[in-house]
Amino acid sequence: MNPSNFYDFYQNRINKQLLNMFNTLPFQNSILIKSMKYGALIGGKRFRACLVYICGEMFKVHIITLDAISIAIELIHSYSLIHDDLPSIDNDAFRRGNISCHVKYGESFAILSGDALQSLAFHILSTYVMPGVSDKKRINIISELSYSIGSTGMCIGQALDLEKDIKQLNMCELDKINLYKTAFLIRSSMRLPYLSSNFFSKKILSLLDRFAICIGLAFQIQDDIFDFKQDTEKCKKNKNIYNTYPNVIGIQQSKKKIKTLYQEALSILKILKKKSFIINKLELLIDFIMQRSK
Ligand code: IPE
Ligand code: IPE
Ligand code: MG
Ligand code: MG
Repeated sequence: MNPSNFYDFYQNRINKQLLNMFNTLPFQNSILIKSMKYGALIGGKRFRACLVYICGEMFKVHIITLDAISIAIELIHSYSLIHDDLPSIDNDAFRRGNISCHVKYGESFAILSGDALQSLAFHILSTYVMPGVSDKKRINIISELSYSIGSTGMCIGQALDLEKDIKQLNMCELDKINLYKTAFLIRSSMRLPYLSSNFFSKKILSLLDRFAICIGLAFQIQDDIFDFKQDTEKCKKNKNIYNTYPNVIGIQQSKKKIKTLYQEALSILKILKKKSFIINKLELLIDFIMQRSK
């Protein structure tokens, strides 16, 4: 199996799903909808959506259910990036190879489009048809996602990331921030399909969780390495790169840490394989994402 084939398949599927969904919204000519579309539709690797589809397939979840979950996850992710780029957070003028949402539409609309993307995600999770998902499961899914992105998840991660500007952190402190700000949404991308399946094993869930945390942390370290190189090349001064992995532990140790996390993720897949789960696509996905060039 060629990894890029299935990655392309899921990427096209989620892109179409997002586009169709956005086209059903009222106020198409408003700046709000235009800026929401700009932040959510243009560019984006759709790694989290692919994870939703692959994980859901492993646990025999209906693809229509996975569509709703991946749309919601990608909307949350896009909202987080729009807000992350704001002048008061990372002050980043570029995103996904284009100018950031606040540069294109202004700060007020960027804030509002982030807010609206977040509520849209929960509206979709609470109203879309999800074959095989009972109301109880639906509540569990909504509860899991909301817990993972608020003051107990992504937002506290982003807040700790802002606080870190004040002092130099050690690696454990950095791991904790990245666990919240990045790994939790990646964990949700696996938990949501699992919670909508007919599997109920706590052991399997904890294996998935650990797998997601490993790849989530590795993903952020890699992102820090890309940013570090770019910032060094361009001498960009607007972004804080003080407390990133390359700065705290150096490039070589950062790469080593990615490798260790990747090996642990692979060892978890081996356990799942022994339990007769089909893990090939997950294995290819992490290979593919680890070898990305951004
Ligand atoms: C960027 O995530 C932000 C991080 C958590 C590192 P991605 O690299 O997945 O962003 P897109 O969606 O592909 O632009
Ligand atoms: C983004 O982290 C994480 C979230 C938006 C939650 P970064 O600030 O490190 O990511 P980039 O480099 O802007 O994509
Ligand atoms: Mg940031
Ligand atoms: Mg940023």
